[in-house]
Amino acid sequence: MNAHALYKGCSGSFDGAQDGSAWLVSAMPYLDKVERKLGETVASEVDTAFDISMHLFSAGGKRIRPALAILCALATDPMADIERIINFATASELVHMASLVHDDVVDETSERRGTITANAKWGNKMSVLGGDYLLAKAFALLSLEHNNEIIRVLSNTAVTMTEGEILQASSEGSIEAWQENYWRIIKGKTAAFMGACCECGAIIAEAPAATCAALCEYGLQVGFAFQITDDLLDIAGDPALIGKEIGTDLMHGKFTLPALIALEYLDPQDRRLLLGSLGNSQITRDEVRGIADKVIACGALEQARQVTVDCAEKALAQLSCLADSEYKSALVNLAESVINRSV
Ligand code: IPE
Ligand code: IPE
Ligand code: MG
Ligand code: MG
Repeated sequence: MNAHALYKGCSGSFDGAQDGSAWLVSAMPYLDKVERKLGETVASEVDTAFDISMHLFSAGGKRIRPALAILCALATDPMADIERIINFATASELVHMASLVHDDVVDETSERRGTITANAKWGNKMSVLGGDYLLAKAFALLSLEHNNEIIRVLSNTAVTMTEGEILQASSEGSIEAWQENYWRIIKGKTAAFMGACCECGAIIAEAPAATCAALCEYGLQVGFAFQITDDLLDIAGDPALIGKEIGTDLMHGKFTLPALIALEYLDPQDRRLLLGSLGNSQITRDEVRGIADKVIACGALEQARQVTVDCAEKALAQLSCLADSEYKSALVNLAESVINRSV
């Protein structure tokens, strides 16, 4: 079985429960509904539009963004309107899938969710269009929502995500730009979206403004922890588990947190090696492996991991606004899980 296909949808089993992911267990009955809605929503009379969508959809994925929306809504009010929650959660996964399809074009990657990327299978032209299709479907679904605030939050987040990816692309290959922009980039491309999913879940559950703001901050901090962990996995992860190639950040000129920290600790020779690898597309996988080992050996990976622990603690502090419930416990578990994940 594809190890990355964590969530197998309503027709199958999933691995999450076995690794003790309580958040996934609590969200699963609702994620099953999201899964059905995703299948219905991407239907198209244009075969390739449907095929590209189904390719990524059926490959698996963790479904963290819809789970955040669902859990934040139910932790606020267990009687919240399920249909609206499912519509929003489905729209959030569609926005995410669109961002993955486009990101794989930009990053020129060939593996995602343990399978071949859309760009490797259909080429860049089809993938850009396929990502547009998923994004358009997300907003068509979102248009059913009658609360303008939700439409506003998700639309603005789509803008922020695009800005994050543009800032990242324009920082490629420049160490100074990465030092200056790392937090802005990861906030834009990942963390703000997770914050928005949480905030919108709370808005649907008609939470007071202070709770919406606290859950938005929870999602933002979870998002920081999540993206930094993704950056750690690009250096020290197991490709068979994470379902994508590793070492691509350095090869594409991305100076993520562990590499930025390593610059302070490496001896001059290894520092030159690391700087020389930045954006060097000629570098071999073995050479990248050697540099990654040095980043690990100098303690930079562990320091970056400690930053994820700090972010998770900040996230957990936001949950004091919620009454105790299964769903609050699931949010606690989710924040703890994202920093310990190997997938
Ligand atoms: C991948 O997100 C993109 C990042 C923000 C790192 P996920 O790791 O949530 O991807 P899937 O949905 O589980 O495949
Ligand atoms: C996150 O950045 C990209 C998106 C938000 C789509 P990465 O480029 O690090 O994500 P992966 O590693 O390709 O999943
Ligand atoms: Mg990428
Ligand atoms: Mg990555």
